[in-house]
Amino acid sequence: MRTLGTVTLGAFDGILRGMNMISEGPRVCIVVAMSRGKRAIGKQGKLLWHIPEDMKRFKELTMGHPVIMGRKTFESILSYIGKPLPGRTNIVVTRNAAYSFPEIVVAPTLADAIENAKIMDSSEVHIGGGSEIYAQALPMVDRLYLTLVDDEPEADSFFPEYADAFTKVVASERFTTPSGITYEWLTLDRA
Ligand SMILES: NC(=O)c1ccc[n+]([C@@H]2O[C@H](COP(=O)([O-])OP(=O)(O)OC[C@H]3O[C@@H](n4cnc5c(N)ncnc54)[C@H](OP(=O)(O)O)[C@@H]3O)[C@@H](O)[C@H]2O)c1
Repeated sequence: MRTLGTVTLGAFDGILRGMNMISEGPRVCIVVAMSRGKRAIGKQGKLLWHIPEDMKRFKELTMGHPVIMGRKTFESILSYIGKPLPGRTNIVVTRNAAYSFPEIVVAPTLADAIENAKIMDSSEVHIGGGSEIYAQALPMVDRLYLTLVDDEPEADSFFPEYADAFTKVVASERFTTPSGITYEWLTLDRA
């Protein structure tokens, strides 16, 4: 485990990218599964659906790349699989300077996490949630890999509004789960 220091360049770079003033460097992506209507993503620290094909897609998209996540999402992953996401550098954002766990990188701010992820990977870095981190990261993101589920379960975590800023459709595919829930994989780039 190592703790990253403050890197102000990360914040500045993110602001410029959010304003579309720079385009070079690794692509910053969000991968998220949400309800199509209310943009619901979680409840009581857990995911809302278990769609094996979607889990596989998350793995394929993120494998080999750094994945930045909030401390609560990291602990949710631990509750599911008992370890950090394998094959990816797990960068966990927390204000707790004493936080540690084997095989992860701890970042004290989101800007530090993104800046250091970009140093680790020259092609793509991923923002893996949850709600708090998605909301703060959205202005610094280039691409959204969305799973839009046609289902509205009860939830306490939501994804921020994105439709006005991300209007370029890169890919779209629709599927139905064995239990009859329809969903779409929609890849959007910033306009
Ligand atoms: N559907 C999906 O695709 C998806 C993906 C991921 C997560 N989720 C769901 O999202 C929910 C969790 O989201 P959440 O919003 O509750 O938590 P979160 O974003 O995962 O983590 C929040 C924590 O991150 C740290 N943090 C946030 N902003 C920070 C900043 N600017 N600087 C330093 N640390 C910062 C804080 O940790 P400390 O309190 O330690 O300081 C904060 O408590 C769960 O239900 C999970 O299942 C869904």
